[in-house]
Amino acid sequence: MSLYEDHVFPVLLDFATRPFRRDRQALVARARGRVLEIGIGTGANLPYYTDAATEVVGLEPSRAMLEDAARVAAGLHGKTRFEFVAGGAEALPFADQSFDTVIACLVFCTIPENEAAAREAFRVLKPGGQFLFFEHVAHPRASVRRWQERLNPAWKKVACGCNLNRDTAALFRQAGFRMDECDAFEHPKVPALAGAMIRGRATRD
Ligand SMILES: C[S@@+](CC[C@H](N)C(=O)[O-])C[C@H]1O[C@@H](n2cnc3c(N)ncnc32)[C@H](O)[C@@H]1O
Repeated sequence: MSLYEDHVFPVLLDFATRPFRRDRQALVARARGRVLEIGIGTGANLPYYTDAATEVVGLEPSRAMLEDAARVAAGLHGKTRFEFVAGGAEALPFADQSFDTVIACLVFCTIPENEAAAREAFRVLKPGGQFLFFEHVAHPRASVRRWQERLNPAWKKVACGCNLNRDTAALFRQAGFRMDECDAFEHPKVPALAGAMIRGRATRD
């Protein structure tokens, strides 16, 4: 990890994702039981967990961000128990069907092997459990999509691996999830380039 990845990018990330505060809150408030949050970053979602989330396991490959997340958790005083695990979502170090809720927030844009990660999220979710997601995705409008394709190589460097052009809803379906809710919309507070969003809830039988 570089100085930029460890110290500059986390600050930029927190600033750039401020328009998503309400979206984070709405997503995370639905979590219950034993929860896995994939790519938890600096822990921006942590204050929004309710006591219905009895245990939250935050997985994150960046040790620097994991330390930030642990600091956020240490300042919280609810009943939720927090645990942090260093690692990538492509090979989750957890048993099959061991979580009631899996959360993916602004992360499937970045995970390098996103197909493997989606399969892993499915594997660790209990039958009847819920997969809650909020992601920016490829724009449905062709003109914006062309700009996303053009700018993606430079964007990916600046944004530590983030891609503008992924079809993440299709990825979740391919992994086996049943997409009970999938709301696709343009975020009113974010430029179109990164403002095509999906949010919702998927389950497994
Ligand atoms: C755009 S940031 C979002 C962070 C956080 N989820 C949030 O909502 O603020 C993308 C995150 O994905 C993490 N990430 C990168 N590769 C990953 C992988 N293979 N598995 C899990 N997370 C990964 C990054 O370290 C970073 O924390």
